[in-house]
Amino acid sequence: MTAYLIKNVSLVGAEPTDLLIRDGVVAQTGPGLAAPDATVLDATGLVALPGLVDLHTHLREPGREDAETVESGSRAAALGGYTAVCAMANTSPVADTAGVVEQVWRLGREAGLVDVQPIGAVTVGLAGERLAELGAMADSAARVRIFSDDGHCVADPKLMRRALEYVKAFDGVIAQHAEEPRLTEGAQMHEGEVSTRLGLTGWPAVAEEAIIARDVLLAEHVGSRLHICHVSTAGSVEVLRHAKARGVKVTAEVTPHHLLLTDEKAETYDPVYKVNPPLRTADDIAALRAALAEGVIDIIATDHAPHAVEDKECEWAYARPGMLGLETALSIALDVLGPQWDLIAERMSRAPARIAGLEGHGLDPAPGVPANLTLVDPAARRVIEPAELASRSRNTPYARMTLPGRIVATFLRGEPTVLDGKAVR
Ligand code: DOR
Repeated sequence: MTAYLIKNVSLVGAEPTDLLIRDGVVAQTGPGLAAPDATVLDATGLVALPGLVDLHTHLREPGREDAETVESGSRAAALGGYTAVCAMANTSPVADTAGVVEQVWRLGREAGLVDVQPIGAVTVGLAGERLAELGAMADSAARVRIFSDDGHCVADPKLMRRALEYVKAFDGVIAQHAEEPRLTEGAQMHEGEVSTRLGLTGWPAVAEEAIIARDVLLAEHVGSRLHICHVSTAGSVEVLRHAKARGVKVTAEVTPHHLLLTDEKAETYDPVYKVNPPLRTADDIAALRAALAEGVIDIIATDHAPHAVEDKECEWAYARPGMLGLETALSIALDVLGPQWDLIAERMSRAPARIAGLEGHGLDPAPGVPANLTLVDPAARRVIEPAELASRSRNTPYARMTLPGRIVATFLRGEPTVLDGKAVR
């Protein structure tokens, strides 16, 4: 195994120092290190972060390998600075059995570019009618701890309660896609002034807020862990603030796109901006950013949602919701938060690793820690060219935008997956 000596690197924003990686772990840190057998990387101007962890990735395999595979999504993740991703269950077949989650887990190991941790479905076929085999998925080789019907809400309160009760035994988490389906029938975009003007059916903020309010009360009643996917409204932030103040075991994520883009993008009728939950207003963005800084929202998660060309380049009403995220998330975080490295490490690595219970991830580079880390050049700016992305899909909302920051290298247990900004394999 090659040793790497990284010179003049800032560890999570601190004064530059050296970092030696050997046998898969961080062997030493400190100024003036020497290691004759090591490959030397000059990291002047670069920041080392604990490898990023995405709690919300759609890898599309099995079933829609034309849009993404475990391998192509893993490569996109590594290029984005990630060392672990949690793969959502809305594949085809749905990841609602031990067999499917083990398949995804095994494909992740074979690709070997990031740790792929499968998320199991809460209900059979995501149909919201019967609980899936949560225990069998938890006991499988994939050791599933997060369960989600993402893409669909677990709308039935009795089923939600039972799911929360079930996972409590093994400290599992239910990750809810908060959308009261009766309030979003036929919805195409955020319900507000823009939807009225465009004549498109709206997705009201209250459809998200009502489910979060219900579920934090259920989680409190049961005493289980609840995670809220892709929080998108100012009202949701208030509900979460209230729940956290009461001591409810709830965590929440926000996506890069909900931190940056508003519902005015729908005026273009370009379906690349169609996403679920929809892009909201500037006031929502302000509330989400404040909640992220404060910790009411715990993490940034990408909701990387690759879609084949025919599912996106069509009329708005027929297009599938979702956007790519893995290869641009760190840049959007830098744009939104600035170089607050400790906050970025917390929201994009440490906290998601804790929520998912991913051992060896989310740990700041220090002697003895598994060498899962990423090197960022904060001074670089890059133009996003969809054709250059590693994802099999092209539905990025940032096409031809100039974004700050570049991932220079990523290491998974001491092996580089990305060097000089390029995938090693
Ligand atoms: O926009 C979305 N796309 N939201 C979801 O909840 C699901 C996702 C997908 O699977 O494409």
